[in-house]
Amino acid sequence: MSNQNAHGSPAGGTRFAGKVVLVTGAASGIGAAAARRFAAEGASLMLADVNAAGVAEVAREIDASSARAASRETDVSDFAQVEALTTEAVERFGGLDVVFNNAGIGAFGKTPDIDIAAWHRTFEVDVHSVFYGCRAAIPHLRARGGGAIVNTASISGLGGDYGLSAYNAAKGAVVNYTRAAAIEHARENIRINAVCPGPIETTLATPLIRHERVAPEYAKAIPMGRPGRAEEVAAAAAFLASNDASYVTGAMIVVDGGLTAATGQPNFHALLVGDADSSGS
Ligand SMILES: NC(=O)c1ccc[n+]([C@@H]2O[C@H](COP(=O)([O-])OP(=O)(O)OC[C@H]3O[C@@H](n4cnc5c(N)ncnc54)[C@H](O)[C@@H]3O)[C@@H](O)[C@H]2O)c1
Repeated sequence: MSNQNAHGSPAGGTRFAGKVVLVTGAASGIGAAAARRFAAEGASLMLADVNAAGVAEVAREIDASSARAASRETDVSDFAQVEALTTEAVERFGGLDVVFNNAGIGAFGKTPDIDIAAWHRTFEVDVHSVFYGCRAAIPHLRARGGGAIVNTASISGLGGDYGLSAYNAAKGAVVNYTRAAAIEHARENIRINAVCPGPIETTLATPLIRHERVAPEYAKAIPMGRPGRAEEVAAAAAFLASNDASYVTGAMIVVDGGLTAATGQPNFHALLVGDADSSGS
């Protein structure tokens, strides 16, 4: 395993030395990148995913390079499984300091076309799981005298997208649940924050991001002109989970290359003046 971040500079060493970190959705994408990042900074890791073989492979890879890592097949939409996962982390590593509630699924379709079961499944996997992760973890974080929880929301939790209303509703719930839980537990030294990724190249999003009709739209709309990498979201999650964020709770960190910083208006400058350096030109 490399101790380098996405930009090739040292990952920064020891922010999680002696800390026990639980990551869900760790078999791929943002969760796997976060697991590697926490490990590179010294954490012991409990990794979870419905993809048992995939998450075991990530744990093996991390374990082989000296950080301690274990994995457990877990469906995060089932509270009993999340509770058993959390208990295993505590029993195996002697406590719990950080939880990254990251597992999630997408959903596509306009309201009349959304299958009722698909709507429920989106909420079970994207919203209920976050509550379950917090519910199971908070007593253990209290027992340590505090800790940090990071939830994976989305820029889709901050506004509406065409054809993603179930996902928008679910991620919006994650955003506001994160704020409410943060203020409830602030005086217990438990910080609760969320990352809001934009388009990030992962198993979940790459087919959409690279779709022949979608890719040129993103190229115009994203001020930085490219989709993000899982490691770039992992870096934000690691910041929120670390003592570097000691006065940050109830915050949403947007990691989207500037996409939501724009109003959505036409690129006036490129259209009226011509501007080779600007997006939309
Ligand atoms: N990639 C993006 O563009 C993007 C943007 C915003 C938010 N997100 C969010 O980031 C998170 C991670 O997604 P990703 O892009 O890395 O996708 P990914 O598909 O690469 O990883 C998601 C992981 O979650 C696991 N998972 C799915 N359902 C599960 C369940 N019920 N229980 C346990 N694990 C389960 C999958 O097996 C997979 O390993 C999700 O919450 C997603 O909504 C992604």
